[in-house]
Amino acid sequence: MMSLNVPLLAGFLYQLVSSSQPPDASSEFRSAFSVARTSSMEGSTEMVITFDKVYVNIGNDFEPQAGLFRCRIPGAYYFSFTIGKHPKKNLSVMLMKNKNEVQVIVYDEHQCSERKVASQSAMLQLDYGDTIWLRLHGDSKYALYSNVGQYTTFNGYLVYPDTMPYFQSIANSSIGPHVISKDRAVEEERQLASEQPITETDPRSAFSVARTESLLGSNKEKVHHQPITFDTEFVNIGKDFNLSSGTFHCRVAGAYYFSFTVGKMPYKTISVKLMKNHNEVQAMIYDDSHSKRREMQSQSVMLFLQERDSVWLYSYQHEGYGAYSNHGKYITFTGFLVYPQAKPEQQPSLEIQEPIRHKISSKTSNSKLQNP
Ligand SMILES: *[C@@H]1O[C@H](CO)[C@@H](O)[C@H](O)[C@H]1NC(C)=O
Ligand SMILES: *[C@@H]1O[C@H](CO)[C@@H](O)[C@H](O)[C@H]1NC(C)=O
Ligand SMILES: *[C@@H]1O[C@H](CO)[C@@H](O)[C@H](O)[C@H]1NC(C)=O
Repeated sequence: MMSLNVPLLAGFLYQLVSSSQPPDASSEFRSAFSVARTSSMEGSTEMVITFDKVYVNIGNDFEPQAGLFRCRIPGAYYFSFTIGKHPKKNLSVMLMKNKNEVQVIVYDEHQCSERKVASQSAMLQLDYGDTIWLRLHGDSKYALYSNVGQYTTFNGYLVYPDTMPYFQSIANSSIGPHVISKDRAVEEERQLASEQPITETDPRSAFSVARTESLLGSNKEKVHHQPITFDTEFVNIGKDFNLSSGTFHCRVAGAYYFSFTVGKMPYKTISVKLMKNHNEVQAMIYDDSHSKRREMQSQSVMLFLQERDSVWLYSYQHEGYGAYSNHGKYITFTGFLVYPQAKPEQQPSLEIQEPIRHKISSKTSNSKLQNP
């Protein structure tokens, strides 16, 4: 692994010195794939889902005939997949790491003859040589559906390469700030002038978490508007997500991508909302079919956040509502910084910024939390 890192990071340093491009834009740090399958597949001993249509394969890290993504650049990757459900068959597909490490699942046990799709996503921290693939349940009661309409797709891309130690050492060196960006140099000069310690050298933020237990609403409990909490952490870059409180606290202002998936509990309604700050609903998942079958629902949205904004998931806490999960991890929640906010030339102090923001948000948030 060390022998691979050296040329990669040398290339990274060269890129920093030779251009004003951010390191992620360097071709040395690109990895992305998007593939589809044009035929159905029934559960058998061949459990790896293979693909015959390649839309994107930057870096050639995905082998479509083998159905395998092999990590070439260590870092944090976002994966998402959508699987068609075969009529009159069950659906169970897991995102796998290496030989047998289950990451997340899509599941649907409706016995109807209709076709539909189910989606799931997660961000994973990978080392060189790690493999990622999709596994269809090996029993012939299970199958996935696809045709030339491509119901079944699989995507993944590198969000943050592992260059953190180099970010730090460059930031610590005297030439650092000028090499990384002019904005940061200006900011660090400003901070030095005001004799404040430089704390932020890493403009990255990402989390991906899962829950292995179901949630069940009840009229007895008097806890309202509690975030969904999580017990599994895939990544938490910047430590901005608190697993035990279930809350993401924004440290770096900017545009963030969020996605979440929940399982439907037999006979219960799903009502799960993506919340910002105290009670601002941003997006939701809903399913009130009274079926006893388990299935999945997903949602995603991009939000512009300011420092100290919080984002969390809320599952309606009343009798008749719930969300299903087990060790396969049906319930997932992922978010990551896509673009940090451009720093203004004359940065106003937080004391001035904060009250303005709260005034605006309280006026414009018209979708307050209410009954689903
Ligand atoms: C799907 O799974 C359910 C629950 O395990 C089972 O009762 C049902 O028979 C399965 N359906 C098929 C088509 O095998
Ligand atoms: C850079 O400085 C920070 C804080 O001063 C320190 O924690 C970190 O270890 C340093 N990194 C390197 C690579 O020297
Ligand atoms: C995370 O949340 C828990 C529960 O609210 C709290 O006790 C803990 O202090 C938080 N941790 C951090 C690092 O803020």
